[in-house]
This record gives sequence, structure tokens and C-alpha cells, in this order.
Amino acid sequence: MEVHLPVVLAPLAGYSDLAYRRICRELGAGFAATEMLLDRTVLSGRTDCKRLTAGHPSDHPLAGQLIGSEPEDLAAAAGRLDAMGMDVIDLNFGCPVRKVLRRGRGGRLLGDADRAVRIIRRVKEATGRPVTIKLRRGLTEDDDGSVCLNIAAEARKLGVAAVRVHPRSVEAGYRGRADWSFLGRVRREFPDWTVIGSGDVLTPRDALRMLGETGVDGVAAARGALGNPWFFAQVARLAEGGELEPPALCEQAAVLRRHFAYAVEVHGPRQACRRMRSFGIRYSRMHPSPKAIRAAFVAVRRPEDWQRVVEEFYDDDSDWLTG
Ligand SMILES: Cc1cc2nc3c(=O)[nH]c(=O)nc-3n(C[C@H](O)[C@H](O)[C@H](O)COP(=O)(O)O)c2cc1C
Repeated sequence: MEVHLPVVLAPLAGYSDLAYRRICRELGAGFAATEMLLDRTVLSGRTDCKRLTAGHPSDHPLAGQLIGSEPEDLAAAAGRLDAMGMDVIDLNFGCPVRKVLRRGRGGRLLGDADRAVRIIRRVKEATGRPVTIKLRRGLTEDDDGSVCLNIAAEARKLGVAAVRVHPRSVEAGYRGRADWSFLGRVRREFPDWTVIGSGDVLTPRDALRMLGETGVDGVAAARGALGNPWFFAQVARLAEGGELEPPALCEQAAVLRRHFAYAVEVHGPRQACRRMRSFGIRYSRMHPSPKAIRAAFVAVRRPEDWQRVVEEFYDDDSDWLTG
């Protein structure tokens, strides 16, 4: 089977920062996105925005993902991301977080198609970079998908480069199964447009299955790639008929050390420890003794703690594998 698009790293709030993107790219991700960036935060130029938009020469092509509700603010923020050197501007019309919805942002825009289209139009006018959009199947469970398809059709007419669809309703959040048949429907509706599928791509096999079953051009790895930056290479290996092999502990150790070092560069030691604790929990799933390693990562407070956990639990000569 041929993988037409590289499997891309999805935007992941709290995770897809420069440090993790660098790690994923070193291990095979060809395209990545920032976590969602509130338009007003981008416009404020505050320190948290600087950290979240931090760049690196190896971190391309990169999509900067924006969330907001006002066409003018989003257009101004898109111009700012463009000037920072983001290669693509991605608009989030899918986030199901309650606070986001209350402010008319993210998935709420699936209940206000006119506004969504106005946002797309203004953002397109404000940047010469390719613009992409992220949609869910609909706002509520009884939505038949027509609003999503209507917004997609308008976006296509306005010259949006690609659409990424997570085929759950906003109301469903992460409950139930992602309805991959809807991805097939989007594919059939827009045969000449780049469609990226998202939702329940939890293993490399899921990625190949989504490509095969739905006909989408590419797959966004989200939860499946959290703590498994080897995901991208694993998909490629499977597609070539190879076996799925977990990385050796010494390889995991090297990545854990590098990821931590990159996180310190971006966030400084204190923030890096906080961010990396969540990652440690995710990484622990790859370890033969996940429970012990999880607890050890949760207890990390200082950079030395992180180094000690890696040394203690990821030494190939230890008896973790046999004992
Ligand atoms: C922790 C977390 C953070 C996320 N942050 C974002 C985000 O910032 N922007 C976005 O468009 N989607 C975000 N998503 C949604 C994912 O990109 C993806 O669409 C969703 O998780 C479904 O894919 P999956 O079932 O393969 O994880 C997030 C998901 C998770 C689990």
C-alpha cells in the first residue's frame, strides 16, 4: 500500500510545542501543527505566545493553528503568524472544550456557518500562505453533517488548501467512535481537494486502515502519537510490509533526554518539568513496566529528577525486560 501523504502530527494543546514537534520530525513526521493559539494571545505578543510560536529551522513545514470568533481578530492574528514564518495558517472550527464554546470559538462555529465563512474569507485576504481548516462532523449529535459539508464547500470555493475532519460531533466530545464513513462522504463530495482524516487513529495500523477505508489523502496522528513519536516511522514500516516493533529502551532513553533538553530550551527548566511530567505519563506506555515508570515521572519536580528516572528505568542492562 502507498501512503500518499505523510502521516501528520495533529495540533495538540499542551503537547505539540516546538520541543515535541522537533522530536516527531526527527523520527519521521513530515508535517506538524502548533497547538491551538488564541487570536488575542497571538496579537498580544505575550511571553506565553512567544513560547507557543517559537520556531526552529528544522520545524518546517509548520501550520500555525488559530482559534477565535471575530473575523478581524483572526485575520490580524493570521497576518502575525504569517510574518513569524508559519508555512500554513490553520483555523480551528472543531474544539469541543466548554469554555471555548461559551466564547463562540472552535466547534461553536459549526452552529454559525455564516460567521465561519466570513472568518475564512478575511483570513484568506490577510495572508498569502495556504489556509487550512479543521472541522467536526457537526455541532450536535443529530446534525447530519450538512453544515460541515456546506462550510467545507464554501472554504473550497475561497481557495482553502485542505480540510481536516474529525468525524464526531462537537457535542460528543471524545465519546463513542469516530464515524469514519463520514470521512468517505467528505472524500466523495470533494474528490479533488486535500482531505485529512482525524479520529481514533490510536495505532499505526489504524492510520493505514483509515487511509484504505476512507480514501482520505492523509491522516492526522493525535492521541496515538502522544508519547509515541515513533508512530510516523511505524506507519511507514507497516505500509512497506514490515513488522511493528517497539523502540529499544536505549532508543527510548535517548529520545526522552533529547525531548527534555528541547523542552528546557523552549520553556525553561521549571515549565519544562511541568510539561514533561504529562509526556512522561504518555511515554511510560512504551515501557515494559508502565505502572512503575508512570509513578516515577509523576514525581518529577526538577530536571535532575527527569535524568534520574531515565537512567534508572531505561538502562538496557537493568532487569526491567526480564524481571
Ligand atoms: C490533549 C489533546 C489536545 C488537543 N488539542 C487540539 C488543538 O489544539 N487543536 C485541534 O485542532 N485539535 C486538538 N485536539 C484534537 C486532535 O487533533 C484530534 O482531532 C482528536 O484527538 C481526534 O484524533 P484521535 O482520536 O486520533 O486522538 C486535541 C486532542 C487532544 C487529545
